[in-house]
Amino acid sequence: MTGPGTLRGVVAMDGPSGTGKSTVSRRLAAALGAAYLDTGATYRAATLAVLRAGLDHSASADDMVAAANAARIASGTDPGAPTIHLDGDDVAAEIRGGPVTTFVSAVSALPGVRDRLVAAQQAVIAAALAGPGGIVVEGRDIGTVVAPDAPLKVYLTASDEVRAARRGRQDARAGRGVDAAVTLADVRRRDRLDSTRAVSPLHKADDALLVDTDELSVDAVLDELLRLAAERGLVT
Ligand code: DC
Repeated sequence: MTGPGTLRGVVAMDGPSGTGKSTVSRRLAAALGAAYLDTGATYRAATLAVLRAGLDHSASADDMVAAANAARIASGTDPGAPTIHLDGDDVAAEIRGGPVTTFVSAVSALPGVRDRLVAAQQAVIAAALAGPGGIVVEGRDIGTVVAPDAPLKVYLTASDEVRAARRGRQDARAGRGVDAAVTLADVRRRDRLDSTRAVSPLHKADDALLVDTDELSVDAVLDELLRLAAERGLVT
């Protein structure tokens, strides 16, 4: 059986959490022989670095930026097994826990943190584009800031309730028991912070395609993205 082909270029996947963005992005990359970059994981790793430095919400922005930028953050881009390391430690599980999730919107709002991580993300993208295939990049500002020239930009949405339910199932699978009302409140709190911050707030790029995933299965979203990528001549 022949696969759908190989991706050329960047697919930018933006939207809030709980839209199925990670699942769809990984599966799209795997289907098209492409690399995969989860930029949210880099902000989470930077946040963990700040926490490991003993800092919390009461710390100054300068101290937080210094702690985040002293950290070595490395992203592995295999969509079958993406990795994230902080100063050589595998932190994939720890960055999904409560302390990082609560604090990440504050750390990712700091321009000094974003400047450095965006440059690192762009370096990962450039390295992938120098190789045989393209790259699927997910986050909040990929189509607007990180890869504004991406030939395919997608903005995934879903209602708050559907997104909180998905996040709750993910937490349960990972053994994190979280009350449903707390999860819904956290989803709304992070959306508000991520959408209203001064630097690179979450918003749809003018040329991004809006896909509402409330009523769509992962398979249906994936099929639509494969069709779009092929239609735009990004698959060879
Ligand atoms: O996708 P996620 O939930 O793992 O992202 C964690 C946080 O990082 C999210 O609350 C906002 C921030 N983020 C960001 O500011 N810019 C990105 N490109 C990706 C994530």
